[in-house]
Amino acid sequence: MGHGLLAGKKGIIFGALDSKSIAWKVAEKCVEEGAVIVLTNAPVAMRLGEINELATKLNAQIVPADATSMEDLENLFSQSMEILGGKIDFVLHSIGMSVNVRKKKDYTDLNYEWMKTTFDVSAISFHKVMQVAYKMDAINDWGSIVALSYIAAQRTFPDYSEMAESKALLESFARSFGYHWAKKGHVRVNTVSQSPTMTTAGSGVKGFGDFFGYAEKMSPLGNASGEACADYCVSLFSDLTRMVTMQNLFHDGGFSSMGMAPELIEE
Ligand SMILES: NC(=O)c1ccc[n+]([C@@H]2O[C@H](COP(=O)([O-])OP(=O)(O)OC[C@H]3O[C@@H](n4cnc5c(N)ncnc54)[C@H](O)[C@@H]3O)[C@@H](O)[C@H]2O)c1
Repeated sequence: MGHGLLAGKKGIIFGALDSKSIAWKVAEKCVEEGAVIVLTNAPVAMRLGEINELATKLNAQIVPADATSMEDLENLFSQSMEILGGKIDFVLHSIGMSVNVRKKKDYTDLNYEWMKTTFDVSAISFHKVMQVAYKMDAINDWGSIVALSYIAAQRTFPDYSEMAESKALLESFARSFGYHWAKKGHVRVNTVSQSPTMTTAGSGVKGFGDFFGYAEKMSPLGNASGEACADYCVSLFSDLTRMVTMQNLFHDGGFSSMGMAPELIEE
């Protein structure tokens, strides 16, 4: 049972690949809280087909878009405004992919063409989404834009490779574009820095299982789940957080403030 926190709001959710995806859970919660949404993902992700299940369940339409393509994004925003009957109130960017990680290249031997693709998909796409929406005047006053990040933007996690720089860039885009959006229409832009979560993108990082257990012990509240992340995103899309902008918000059970966990030393 929801609380009607997003009653009457219209949203676009990027990145629901399967039921483990954080975006999948955010989509479910947004609808539970009264929003109407359009789901979008890269055309290749459509082939897996699972997103159709979610769309049926949530009575939502799907508009495929490669988030690196300006043409796809323009089509996405114009179709979404038509489907939803007006401008958009909230957007979730939940997109990440590293070619070098996928191809198991060491950080000291990265392929720079692949790195460019990684940055384009994982970070520049966020700027592209915002620029397209800005130029099309597609977001309502007091709207909210959120992207998902990870603490490797600030600290070194050796196996996270070039995704660390992608997240640093992503968070910087939130601050820089956040200024322009605030001035244009009181729209806020934030990143949520989420705990390690068992998803397709998460499990692609080497040693993820062990690291998940380590973070669980390091965080006094334990790792934040995908469901909890969805709750937090709902709060950021709701009218209760209208003055929060240009922030990177840690949603990590306390991990980011810890220096030492006695539990880990005992082990
Ligand atoms: N899983 C974790 O441990 C964790 C922790 C912190 C932050 N995050 C971030 O959360 C976000 C969502 O990841 P997830 O863990 O739910 O994994 P996921 O694999 O379910 O989601 C990643 C999504 O990105 C989409 N995508 C890839 N290339 C795209 C493109 N060109 N255009 C449009 N979409 C594209 C994929 O299809 C997929 O739906 C990512 O930004 C990820 O970095 C994940």
